[in-house]
Amino acid sequence: MSKNLTKKILVTGATGQIGSELVPELKKIYGKENVVLGIHKRKNVDDLEDSPSTVIDVTNKNLIEDAVQEFDIDTIYHLAAILSAAGEKDPWLAWKVNIDGTYNVLEVAREKKLVKVFCPSSIAAFGPDTPRVNTPQITVMNPKTMYGLSKVTGELLANYYFYKFNVDVRGLRYPGIISNKTLPGGGTTDYAVEIFYEAIKNKKYVCFLKSDTVLPMMYMPDCIKATLNLMDAEIQSLRYHSDYNVAAMSFSPDDLFKEILKIIPDFKIYYNPDHRQKIADSWPQSLDDSSARKDWGWKPDFTLSEMVKDMINVLSKKITI
Ligand code: SER
Repeated sequence: MSKNLTKKILVTGATGQIGSELVPELKKIYGKENVVLGIHKRKNVDDLEDSPSTVIDVTNKNLIEDAVQEFDIDTIYHLAAILSAAGEKDPWLAWKVNIDGTYNVLEVAREKKLVKVFCPSSIAAFGPDTPRVNTPQITVMNPKTMYGLSKVTGELLANYYFYKFNVDVRGLRYPGIISNKTLPGGGTTDYAVEIFYEAIKNKKYVCFLKSDTVLPMMYMPDCIKATLNLMDAEIQSLRYHSDYNVAAMSFSPDDLFKEILKIIPDFKIYYNPDHRQKIADSWPQSLDDSSARKDWGWKPDFTLSEMVKDMINVLSKKITI
């Protein structure tokens, strides 16, 4: 069984919303030559130049095996996934990427005796039968989206690989992640990122969720911190493995609008809820993350108002109007 012996990391979905910010942190810790970017299609990304990279389609197990072999990988951060709204457009693809992809990563981890694997889950793993406020660590799941279904399956499979095969696989149920480097794509919580770009560029935003739809959210620096802290935790202290609730803040589009208004006073919001409303309505509003706090010392740094200030500060410099 593993300890903290990670030396060479493969990140799948390395150029996505979370990957593009996790990779630079991993490089700082492990050295840039020791973080291999697994990318689905070759893209022009800043990080590619000084890091090894490889094209990976996680639905093809051979490609994962080859990368592990070629780069002598001992740890995988498996971030490649199809998000909730995109998964409802193409549930077949979501199944292949999210379920077959996770299975392939776990199988390679078992066969190659990898030190550790990170397989994230999501608030989407819960469904309309779940208690929505302060959602417990262990409760009814019954998700109604293909994305949610794939995340519960991933959690169960990853836990199975831990107990059956001693694969040290860990994961968090990420809330909606707010960030300013790479846009999310195909998610239901994406409004909480888009709103900032529109507030700065056009001073108005048409929101695809209703004004009072409360969802759990987290700022990217906390997402990175939670990910690295869980992966660093002593295994003996972990009562759970691939399915830790983590929380930072919960807010509705109206709460977020009012907070942005404090900095951009002429900002306007309009509401035009679409198919994503139904998805959001099936998810928790807030999570009980006391197990993460107790087992590996989880504590978020950013409140809603701190996140909003930082987002506007960073994006105002980045966006040229
Ligand atoms: N952010 C994701 C989504 O909206 C939830 O994990 O699909």
